[in-house]
Amino acid sequence: VRSDAVVLFGVTGDLVSKKLFPALYELTRRGRVPATVIGFARSPWDQQQLVTAARKSVTEAGIDVDEDVFEDLAGRLSMISGDYADPETYARLADALAGAERPLFYFAIPPAVFDAVVEGLKGAGLADRGRVVVEKPFGHDLASSHELAATLRGAFAPERTFRIDHYLGKEPVEGITLFRFANAVFEPLWNREHIASVQVTVAEKFSTQGRAGFYDKVGATRDVLQNHILQVVALLAMEEPADDTQEAFQAAEAAVLRQAAALSPETTVRGQYEGYRDEPGVATGSQTETFVATRLTVDNERWAGVPFYLRTGKSMPVTSTEVVVEFKGAKPGTGNLLRFQLGKKDGISLTVQVKRPGADVTAQTVSLAVDFDDVLEPRREAYERLLDDAMDGEHLRFAREQAIEQEWRIVEPILDLESGVLAYPQGSWGPDEADALAGGWA
Ligand code: BG6
Repeated sequence: VRSDAVVLFGVTGDLVSKKLFPALYELTRRGRVPATVIGFARSPWDQQQLVTAARKSVTEAGIDVDEDVFEDLAGRLSMISGDYADPETYARLADALAGAERPLFYFAIPPAVFDAVVEGLKGAGLADRGRVVVEKPFGHDLASSHELAATLRGAFAPERTFRIDHYLGKEPVEGITLFRFANAVFEPLWNREHIASVQVTVAEKFSTQGRAGFYDKVGATRDVLQNHILQVVALLAMEEPADDTQEAFQAAEAAVLRQAAALSPETTVRGQYEGYRDEPGVATGSQTETFVATRLTVDNERWAGVPFYLRTGKSMPVTSTEVVVEFKGAKPGTGNLLRFQLGKKDGISLTVQVKRPGADVTAQTVSLAVDFDDVLEPRREAYERLLDDAMDGEHLRFAREQAIEQEWRIVEPILDLESGVLAYPQGSWGPDEADALAGGWA
């Protein structure tokens, strides 16, 4: 059955305002939002404040608001505020959900209050019939991710538990595997014989945007590398799943991640943009990285010896998420580059050599490029798709426990390093050492 109520825990936070309200608005337009949407938070907001926040967030998302759709959404919103640790708050929630058969609980909350919310829902008898969506980070390291998994398992059946890695909900990310396996021309080349390197970049022009209090405890490795980037690596590197079931996908992904070596501090560059330490919420002398670049290796027949260069950072020159597969060239610097653009601007391109006009026969590099805006239907936002899926109880596009566990194992050696973070100017590509690491990024 489809979820007949949604509860947003942490409704006053950044994630709800940036992603979930816009997603709910779009789903309302499509008639996919249940009658009851409850905001839950410590802050004493009333319904009106909730509606105001929803409007602000929808407007800031750049949506051209249709008043009828917004009124429709606003009419479904209500608010419950109270202490996350107080059973009385959950008793009020249980009253509000009395008529709901399959409520969806969305945890847009910091890890610190996670246990309290699970206990609260259990105590009020709501865990037995609810679905739960949990946001990353799934724990703080390998050990705590196990604890978190156990806490969840103790309250919610696995088929009612959804772990969001919103990259899995992005059309062009989901498209990586289809591209690989549906274009037979690439598969014979997709290996160490023909590929020189694979590069994955998640660059963001903006800084921590007032989230420094949260971010300082997390850093770029936990925020983006451990989940989004390694998830993309799994899709690029995995063997073709045996069939199109969730289980087959899960097995293929986990298998390739298991063959990836844990990262080494020696082949990792951690950076922090200048001025970060002056932001409110950042600890004095913080060693938290706002940029990380690293080299990953995958020890199997397909990939042995092929470096995967991975990097992500805040305050970069541009906002862009890209994968570049660098094929081996006849001569250095002439390898074809297959580029997947996975961000707001999505598309695929392949560089090739053509003849430069003139008397001499010399090569010039040009790009065969497709901008998806020109050829595809509009793509729905990741959070909209995933929220819709979770309400349907559909797991395919959610992160898998085994993969998450491997992702933590892979990043563990570079977590919480107490020194070595290098300053970089805002608006740059991070410390120079990161360029040296990859021998230049394509
Ligand atoms: C989130 C991180 O998971 O992903 C943010 O917490 C980051 O720090 C965001 O900005 C990037 O997502 P997207 O969809 O904008 O590439």
